[in-house]
Amino acid sequence: MIPVITIDGPSGAGKGTIAQMLALELNWNILDSGALYRTLAYFMKENTINLENFEENQNILKERFKVSFDPGIPGEPVKVMFENEDITSIVRTEEMAKLTSTLAAEPVIREFIKPCQRDFMKLPGLIADGRDMGTVIFSDAKYKIYLTASVEERAKRRQTQLKRQGLEVNMRSLLRELEDRDRKDMEREHSPLIPAEDSVLIDTSNLNPKGVVEEIKTYL
Ligand code: C5P
Repeated sequence: MIPVITIDGPSGAGKGTIAQMLALELNWNILDSGALYRTLAYFMKENTINLENFEENQNILKERFKVSFDPGIPGEPVKVMFENEDITSIVRTEEMAKLTSTLAAEPVIREFIKPCQRDFMKLPGLIADGRDMGTVIFSDAKYKIYLTASVEERAKRRQTQLKRQGLEVNMRSLLRELEDRDRKDMEREHSPLIPAEDSVLIDTSNLNPKGVVEEIKTYL
C-alpha cells in the first residue's frame, strides 16, 4: 500500500509550499495537480486543441501529455517539466490560471487527467496537492488535509509569489480574480472544491509554513 497525503484547498492557502516542504522532508513524490491542469491548458492552446476537437486529438494528447515535477528548492515554486523544458513560469501566471479554471470544470478534461494523476502514486509515498485530491482522486488516502486562509491573506501571498516571478499585479484585481476562481472551483458541478469529510482543516491565515507543517506532523 502506497501512502498518500492529500492537500486540498483554495488558491493561495499554502498548498504548494506545504506540499513542497513535506515532499522534501519525507523524500516522497509530489503531484501538483493544479500545475497538471495548467500544463494541459497550455498544451491545448499551443496545439489549437479545444473542447470541440478534444476527442479527435486523444491520441496526440495521450502520447505527448507527460508532465513531471521537481520539488525544487524551498521558497521557489515546484518546478513543472514538460517535453524536456521547465515551463514553470509559463504556466504559473494568473492568465493561465483563469483559462485553466474554465477548462477544469469540463468532465472530458477531468476524465482525461484522472489516470495521469494516479500515475504519480509511487513508493515511498505521494503528496498530492489540488482541489479534489481527497474527495475524488485519492479518496482512499489515509491522510487528508484541507488548507484554508482569509481571501486577503491568500491574495497577499499570491502577489508575493508572482512578484518573485517578476510579475507585477494589482492587488484589487488579484483579489477579484481569486474570488472569481474560488467561486468557479467551488460551485462547479464536477469535482467541486469541498473539504473531504475525513479531512483535517487547517486555517493558515496566522501561521507560517513551519507552523503548518508542525500541525500536520502532529496529525500524522
Ligand atoms: O492550484 P492551481 O491554482 O495551480 O490550480 C489552477 C486551477 O486548476 C484551479 O483554479 C482549478 O480550477 C483547477 N484545478 C482543479 N482540480 C485540481 C487542481 C486544480 O480543478 N485538483
